[in-house]
Amino acid sequence: MSYQNILFEQPETGICLLTVNRPQALNALNSATLDEIAQAVEQVAADESARVLLLTGAGDKAFVAGADISEMQNFTPEQGEAFSVRGSRVFAALEALPMPAIALVNGYALGGGCELALACDWILASDRAVFGQPEVNLGVCAGFGGTQRLPRRLGSARAMELLVTGRQVRAEEALAIGLVNEVVAAADLLQKGLELARLIASKAPVAVRYTKEAVTRGADLNLAEALALESQRFGRCCATQDQKEGMRAFLEKRPAKFHGG
Ligand code: HXC
Repeated sequence: MSYQNILFEQPETGICLLTVNRPQALNALNSATLDEIAQAVEQVAADESARVLLLTGAGDKAFVAGADISEMQNFTPEQGEAFSVRGSRVFAALEALPMPAIALVNGYALGGGCELALACDWILASDRAVFGQPEVNLGVCAGFGGTQRLPRRLGSARAMELLVTGRQVRAEEALAIGLVNEVVAAADLLQKGLELARLIASKAPVAVRYTKEAVTRGADLNLAEALALESQRFGRCCATQDQKEGMRAFLEKRPAKFHGG
C-alpha cells in the first residue's frame, strides 16, 4: 500500500513502524492522515506475524503537533463533530490492536498528538518530548479522546488541570506523573523502541496478545468479570504449543523457542 502522509515499514520481522510524515506541518493530523493511519492500523491488525507496532513522528521537532488547525478553522458544528468521530474511531482501532502499540514521542505531542500517544499502550519519550492538551487556547475541548484517556492514565485531578489550563509538560515531568514509562536521549529513541519491540517479539505471541486483551478489556469490566476474563485467557494459553514449549524449556533449563501458536 502506498501512503502520502505516513511511512509504514517493517524494519524487522514482527515489528511494524508507523511514522506520521508531515514534518512541514509538525506532523499535524488532517483527515487524509487520519485515514492513512486507519489503513495502516488495519494492515497491522490483519498481519498474523505482527508482534508490536511502534508509532513516531518524522523530523526531530514533533511527534504530532495536534489535529490540523488549518483544516478545522472553518468547521461547522456538524463538521467538527464528524472530524472528532473520525479521529476517535481511528484511535479506538489503534487501542484495540491485538498486539502492543508503543508511542515513541520524539518532540511535541500536543492536542491530537498527545491523544494519539495515549491511544498507544505506553509511551517512550525522548528528552525533547513536550506533552499538552492546548485545545482550550483554540476555543475547543479535546476531541480525539483526551478528556477520557488522560484521566484514565493520570487520574482525574491531574488530567483536569492539564486539560483546562493547556499547560505543557516536558519529558521529565511527564515521567514523574506517569504519562510516559521512560525518557531516553533523543538520539537513542528509535533504537530503544526497537530494543523494546524485539524483547516483546521474543515472548510467546498468544500470551502477549491475551495479556493485552485482559488488561485493556478488563479495565472496562468489574473486577469479578475481569478476573474471569483473565482465567479464560489463561486457559486458552494452555491450548497452545508455546505454553508446552515455554514450560518444558524452563524445566529443561534452556531458552524457549516460540512459534506463535
Ligand atoms: C496545522 C500546524 C500545527 C497544527 C504546527 N503547525 N502545528 N499546522 N495544525 N496543529 C505548522 C505551523 O503552522 C507552521 O507552518 C509549522 O507547522 C511549524 O510550526 P511553528 O509554529 O512555526 O513552529 P514553532 O514556533 O517551533 O512552534 C511549535 C508549536 C506550535 C509550539 C508546536 O506549532 C504550536 O503551538 N502548534 C499548535 C499546537 C496545538 O495547538 N495543537 C492542538 C491542535 S487542536 P508554516 O506554514 O507557518 O511553516 C487538536 C484537537 C484534536 O489537536 C481533536 C480534534 C477533533
